Amino acid sequence: MKHLLSLNDLTTDEIHDLLKLALKLKEQNKSGIKHHILEGKTLGMIFSKSSTRTRVSFEVGMYQLGGSALFLSSDDIQIGRGESIYDTANVLSRYLDGIMIRTYKQSDVDDLAEFGTIPIINGLTDEMHPCQILADLQTVYEHKKKLEGLKLAYIGDGNNIAHSLLHGCAKVGMNIAIASPEGYECDNKYVEEAKAAAKLTGSEILMTQDPAEAAAGADVVYGDTWISMGQEEQKAEKLKIFMPYQINSELFAKANDDAIFLHCLPAYRGYEVTKEVIDGPQSAIFDEAENRLHAQKAVLATLLVK
Ligand code: CP
Ligand code: NVA
Repeated sequence: MKHLLSLNDLTTDEIHDLLKLALKLKEQNKSGIKHHILEGKTLGMIFSKSSTRTRVSFEVGMYQLGGSALFLSSDDIQIGRGESIYDTANVLSRYLDGIMIRTYKQSDVDDLAEFGTIPIINGLTDEMHPCQILADLQTVYEHKKKLEGLKLAYIGDGNNIAHSLLHGCAKVGMNIAIASPEGYECDNKYVEEAKAAAKLTGSEILMTQDPAEAAAGADVVYGDTWISMGQEEQKAEKLKIFMPYQINSELFAKANDDAIFLHCLPAYRGYEVTKEVIDGPQSAIFDEAENRLHAQKAVLATLLVK
């Protein structure tokens, strides 16, 4: 593993190794055991979009591992004024030990990895959010004590979170059902990649427009905002289209009795999910948010210790 660009690039074993390390680092962190294995290392964090969890968890993660992190807003570095990815990758590779980048186009992240000489971590693009899904899998494992054979239902827009969930679930043998409205389905490229991975793990993949069909018998019900970053001008139109996809008590009741609710956050109560569900007893959203820290420390410890 040289970079984390897409979960599809990782083998099932690599994902399990990251999850095991994340669980171990979490336990050790809680018992006060420190690992300064990244002493003297610096992570650059390029952000072209807002962030609470990704920014703070990466920065704290580097600090806890003995290294440091630099916040690089694309408004403040020359990339925002049109400096090429090629030059940026080459220059930053001379200063830094790794880069985490949150931006629009996946191709910009892939190009950074191609042109630079240091590990690149995808901190969200319009197409994928692999770090989030590692934390999600860790959370499911903690709550259910297993992953293989469980069913996750994602209900909402077929974009970054859904694509990385397809990869992550297929790679670990979880069944996944995705319900999205017509015109907002997942990109077929990611569905095909997941189906190829599912052939090896036995995971079942269901793509539907019916939220009740997706939620039926699920162990995990997953929501995301209907208005992703960069889509603000589509808000009025999308709110109308997505209303039948709201995760409310009635829809959640179609899942298994002991199902958990996950949401990558930020969440908009009353839109993609009701207060009853997201603030209810089966919601694990804050465990999930916490696990961003532990899962990413596992990624940093794997990629930057070389
Ligand atoms: N879930 C997530 O990536 O949150 P932020 O946008 O706050 O980083
Ligand atoms: N789909 C959301 C995820 C936020 C973590 C977005 O892209 O804004």
